[in-house]
Amino acid sequence: MMDVGRHSNIELLTYSEVEDISGYIGNFKARIRKKARYVYEEHCTSCGDCVEVCPVVVPDEYQIGLGSRRAIHIPFPQAVPSAYIVHAEECMGQNPIACGKCIEACEKDCIDFAMRDEIIDVDVGTVIVATGMEVYDPTPWDEYGYTRFPNVVTSMEFERLISTGGPLKGHLERPGDLKHPLRIGFIQCVGSRTQDPERGNPYCSNFCCMNTIKSTQYLNDTYPDIESTVFYMDLRAFGKGFEELLMRSKGNGVRYVRGLPGDVREDPETGDLRVTVENTTINRLEEHEFDMLVLAVGAVPATDTELVRQMVSLSKSPSGFLKEAHPKLRPVDTPTKGVFIAGAAESPKDVRESVTQASAAASRSSILLNKSEFSVEAITAVVDEDLCKMCGQCADVCPFSAIQWAKKEVAVVTSAACAGCGTCAAECRFDAIEMRHFSDQAIYAQIDAMLEDDPLNTIVTFACNWCSYAGADTAGVGRMAYPPNANIIRTMCSGRVSTDFVWYAFRKGAPVVLVSGCHYVDCHYIDANRSTTRRLDGLWDGLEKADLRPDRLLLEWCSAAEGGRWQTIMQEAEKRRQTATLEEVEQTRSILAEARTPSPRNPRARDEGSPAAFVCLRCGHSWDGIYQGNVERMCPQCRSNSVRWLRKRGR
Ligand code: FES
Repeated sequence: MMDVGRHSNIELLTYSEVEDISGYIGNFKARIRKKARYVYEEHCTSCGDCVEVCPVVVPDEYQIGLGSRRAIHIPFPQAVPSAYIVHAEECMGQNPIACGKCIEACEKDCIDFAMRDEIIDVDVGTVIVATGMEVYDPTPWDEYGYTRFPNVVTSMEFERLISTGGPLKGHLERPGDLKHPLRIGFIQCVGSRTQDPERGNPYCSNFCCMNTIKSTQYLNDTYPDIESTVFYMDLRAFGKGFEELLMRSKGNGVRYVRGLPGDVREDPETGDLRVTVENTTINRLEEHEFDMLVLAVGAVPATDTELVRQMVSLSKSPSGFLKEAHPKLRPVDTPTKGVFIAGAAESPKDVRESVTQASAAASRSSILLNKSEFSVEAITAVVDEDLCKMCGQCADVCPFSAIQWAKKEVAVVTSAACAGCGTCAAECRFDAIEMRHFSDQAIYAQIDAMLEDDPLNTIVTFACNWCSYAGADTAGVGRMAYPPNANIIRTMCSGRVSTDFVWYAFRKGAPVVLVSGCHYVDCHYIDANRSTTRRLDGLWDGLEKADLRPDRLLLEWCSAAEGGRWQTIMQEAEKRRQTATLEEVEQTRSILAEARTPSPRNPRARDEGSPAAFVCLRCGHSWDGIYQGNVERMCPQCRSNSVRWLRKRGR
């Protein structure tokens, strides 16, 4: 931290909060509130004269409430800058005027109660999110008596009790009566690895086992008179040197009991604790007595993680931690270009792993910052200004906030921020958004082609590029046979599948339509597949209203590794296909041909054969021609097929 504070290229903003981040890769704008600390940090010499005269005493959060501090204080001994800070609400409480004793005591005149919060706007090229984690509160584990017995503490509190910078200056005493403990018990996995959401989290917090082993080793070295016992369900000592440390701890006489206690009682006279546990190694119920009990609590996401997640459009895992772009190949990248994650914001981890990840995030970030240009994927959305009705629906559903829209203004796509999921194009009721390389025309053409010869024998399948399509690949590579009549249309995300495509397929004689994508939390475009679910819900309702069988439309999630699942999905789709008769399919076609709602909307169809203007989105060349519907055009100048059709003026 000291190095960071001194580095000439790093501007360290402490006691500050990011209020907003907007923009895109290379052009982010961050709005930061630098809170008033009422002390000029550059003049403060940390002499401590102000603290001595401050009359306001409050619990010290750094000591987890086990110690106290004054309203003017340094948050923790290693804080950078090493300057005092005043919490106004603690200093003045209900009084509008501070007592001013600290002002009188400060020889350097560093204290100024007229100081106000400052808003700082900075332009940044990339963002690294490192919001950290918080410790789990074990209050729901009432059987361990955390809130009832003073000698039951969490592992975090125990750290403060044994620390030389802690409230006891490193002389371990139990909190209940300040007696030196001789028997200490550690209970592992409190709030971790449980399927009961009321009592914790299903994940392993990664560091608790090693923290306990380290603590027992510390007790062995510092207080040889203390006996330690660890209750565990299994010990996870993976990592460099960890197994050796566990062996050393066992060799030093620390007792490890496999089994988690079911009950803790306190002797009201002595404050000692009696623990009942089933030792599952020897299948015996045991009772142990301790002077002090330490609950090895896990980690939960930091409170502000959700706020930051929304600011920079990130996705989160079911546990609430931020999700990386790919767990193996892009572990510090996120789906939003130019935003990286590091440390426990991504998942609970120890210092070593956090430092590794932080270095990786900094390197990834500097690779971008050292470039003068950044290439983005060509698969982006393009708004047709003539067709845009300025409804703003596209901006609402864009998971990356890549579409700017204001009332009475056409939507504008920021190509650098657009990830190309196609959700906006599927959502636009006016066909005003086209996806480069995954155009409506191309998708309609694929539907036409697959239903041309033997529609009754065809399963029209939409598969997202990243998971379902890859799952189909895995099935193929693994020789998992699935019905050969499954014709797949690849889209980047299931969110690209517009309701029109489905209606169109049914109108063209499809017996069944399958839409598939990544599992809910795995969508590569944050939460674009939630739009898929919403749209499919509407479609099932629409099918029912049109008196058509809703089970002819399927929605399935499948990951890239689930070849077997893809096989099962396709076999189920084939079963459904076999239930659709020729009469039913013909009836569907005639109903949809007449019905107003389910007919595929393609306003451009009425313009087929009419004179039109075209513009190349790559080189800007424009020319006149005849609009030919779903036919892809090529720019006569640069040979690009990123061509936009424009209606002729006056039509
Ligand atoms: Fe697969 Fe979104 S990327 S559903």
